[in-house]
Amino acid sequence: MRIVLVGPPGAGKGTQAQYLAKNLSIPHVSTGDLFRANISQGTELGRQAQDYIDAGQLVPDSVTIGMATNRLQEADAADGFLLDGFPRNLAQAEALDAFLAEQGIALDGVLDLEVPEDEIVKRIAGRRVCRRDSSHVFHESYNQPAREGVCDVCGGELYQRPDDSEDTVRTRIEVYHRETEPIIDYYRAQNLVVTISALGPVDEVTARAMEALGVSE
Ligand code: AP5
Ligand code: ZN
Repeated sequence: MRIVLVGPPGAGKGTQAQYLAKNLSIPHVSTGDLFRANISQGTELGRQAQDYIDAGQLVPDSVTIGMATNRLQEADAADGFLLDGFPRNLAQAEALDAFLAEQGIALDGVLDLEVPEDEIVKRIAGRRVCRRDSSHVFHESYNQPAREGVCDVCGGELYQRPDDSEDTVRTRIEVYHRETEPIIDYYRAQNLVVTISALGPVDEVTARAMEALGVSE
């Protein structure tokens, strides 16, 4: 399956993507994780992205679209993928459609995760991610690691993302409403969108997502 995940910051896209990608045996492609890996490795791409991410703004399309489509090419897009954090504006959605059309493939669905703003703030304030791999995500009260401050998956150190400060989160939420929400209507016009509530325990949200996408475990 070829799926796009959308939802505001802290909706649980990364958390759900881990389980959905495993259940569906497809690669999880997160542009946020790709940027953070480039930043920690000190690459040129990471250098270009860092200031935008720290400010809660979108990294320019000229950097993002190439990075995302290269990763899809590497992942053999025809065999399926779960995109998390891309596309994030209309230009990116159009570029993704053009890329998929070139490959003779199309999306199967767009999963839209809905969460009220007060819950977003609680989820982000308590989030801790792994320094070695930011797709290893925990929460200080909702999703605790077995040992405080240590990643269950790889033993890496857990820390708070610099863009999770209150001010930056406010900017990220504004950017989401302004830039990203319009892609939901774009995909609605293609009859691709399924919207679910992302409230409740993680495994319940996963089950809801699988059902909405019409797949069973
Ligand atoms: P990105 O990393 O994509 O950030 P985001 O979209 O703001 O999403 P988050 O990672 O904050 O949240 P999430 O929905 O994955 O939630 P999570 O599962 O962690 O992007 C970061 C930045 O990179 C952007 O601001 C931008 O600058 C840049 N960027 C990325 N892509 C780009 C693009 N395409 N174009 C331009 N720029 C781009 O969950 C949050 C917390 O809640 C966790 O602690 C988790 O444990 C907890 N939680 C999850 N589910 C539940 C639940 N059901 N119940 C209780 N707690 C839960
Ligand atoms: Zn880890």
